[in-house]
Amino acid sequence: MSRAYDLVKKDKNRVIIFDTTLRDGEQSPGCAMNLEQKLKMAAVLDELGVDVIEAGFPIASPGDFEAVHQIAQVVKNATVCGLSRAKAADIEASAEAIKPAESKRIHTFISTSPLHMKYKLKMGANSVIDAIHDSVTLARKFTDDVEWSAEDGSRTEDDFLCQAVETAINAGARVINIPDTVGYAIPEEYARQIKMLFDRVPNIDKAIISTHCHNDLGLAVANSLAGVQAGARQIECTINGIGERAGNAALEEIVMAIRTRHDLLPYINNIETTKITKASRTLTGITGFSVQPNKAIVGANAFAHASGIHQDGMLKNAQTYEIMTPESVGLTESKLVMSKHSGRHAFREKLKELGFELGDNALNDAFARFKNLADRKKEVYEDDLIALIEDEIISENDKIKFISLQVQAGTTGPQTAELCLIVNGEEKCTKVEGNGPVDAIFKAIRDIHPHEEARLKLYQVHAVTGGTDAQAEVTVRLQEDGKTVVGTGTDADTLVASARAYVHALNKLIIKRQSINPQTGEDKEAVGGV
Ligand code: KIV
Ligand code: ZN
Repeated sequence: MSRAYDLVKKDKNRVIIFDTTLRDGEQSPGCAMNLEQKLKMAAVLDELGVDVIEAGFPIASPGDFEAVHQIAQVVKNATVCGLSRAKAADIEASAEAIKPAESKRIHTFISTSPLHMKYKLKMGANSVIDAIHDSVTLARKFTDDVEWSAEDGSRTEDDFLCQAVETAINAGARVINIPDTVGYAIPEEYARQIKMLFDRVPNIDKAIISTHCHNDLGLAVANSLAGVQAGARQIECTINGIGERAGNAALEEIVMAIRTRHDLLPYINNIETTKITKASRTLTGITGFSVQPNKAIVGANAFAHASGIHQDGMLKNAQTYEIMTPESVGLTESKLVMSKHSGRHAFREKLKELGFELGDNALNDAFARFKNLADRKKEVYEDDLIALIEDEIISENDKIKFISLQVQAGTTGPQTAELCLIVNGEEKCTKVEGNGPVDAIFKAIRDIHPHEEARLKLYQVHAVTGGTDAQAEVTVRLQEDGKTVVGTGTDADTLVASARAYVHALNKLIIKRQSINPQTGEDKEAVGGV
């Protein structure tokens, strides 16, 4: 049985939300996650109510396989899906990885556009049709819930797409996905293509049609909704819209558009919208990829009303300028939480309330950092606590750990950094001069753990809350051999946050495995994408 297919057949307006944050999102530059981070994100997605979690690409590496396998063991509600190219080894790896899941799906794909078939696959049309038949048939041996995707579907000729879709459905696919792989389609065109499939493919009623739209022209959400209006009943999307190049359709935008404009988009889904902010923040905390302030739904300014005229209108009636409430996406004012007098028990309870349950060691470390922060910062807000805990979770399994930093800065040089790190369990300290304090800190890290090939591509600071005593959140992006990693660090001291962020990025670089991108065959984090 296919849970998604049954749901859609029972209610013609039910739309399946297929989240690919952990696959298409995770395969994009700088977004790689380790096992613990993927498990944490999967739990948040499950709580959010997504119908399907595409947990990864199991053949890519032992690490990817293990992540999908463990997610399959812990996810309680969603269907767990593994991606596979049209190759037996890929499909068998997916089948094995998703085995423990209560509800499981294998997603297999092959390119169908003339351009991709000729230059990427170097295969003729008949061979592609055979590969579709064979891959879907094999996948069906392991589960009834098989999805087939026509990569570069939006640039595929109608006749060939119809033949490919009919073949996949005959072989047993219950979901047919039509990706706009390169984000080239415009809404009207994409809708026409979906409708064309309903009109021309004879066995189309035996499958759900799915959208998978990339955002290269900023049209991913519009295209996805146009696809649904044309009859598609699954939307593939990611939290914060992360994904290859300009990303995928953003889950939060799709869901809130459907909720807010239910008059024109009368569709139903299972998302608990009040969990959207938590999902967005968990992801930015894990990846270090913050969202732009004016990003719809989850940007810092999405519900901020700055101009006097707007504020006046809002006070008279919130609906004058607000089409949805901040509460509906789980956005509440960051509350003042604790002071330096708060004890460990209250601290643990507050974390539980915020959705964090830490083991004893992590709790001890986090509590020590909280006390330190509360000593330096008059008012500790929920956002401060969240930033601090996310930092703690991020660094829990790191090979290199930050211990301490003393910096000599100011107009009278030289600026120096005295830094201690633990590297593979051994404490190492150094004192280094630099061209400014940040330069000195980063040189000190390089001195303790040399990594000559890595280049610093971005150094960015912003404040977690307001005030001069606000915690700084620093983002560092490193690039090495075409691979990009992003690290974040928070602290009331900007320089300490900088050291933490750099160490976080370095840890990502170290643990990075040579896992391949399903679409290009390149390293997962290789810049360039599809
Ligand atoms: O964008 C794309 O075509 C994909 C497929 C693998 C579904 O991500
Ligand atoms: Zn994609």
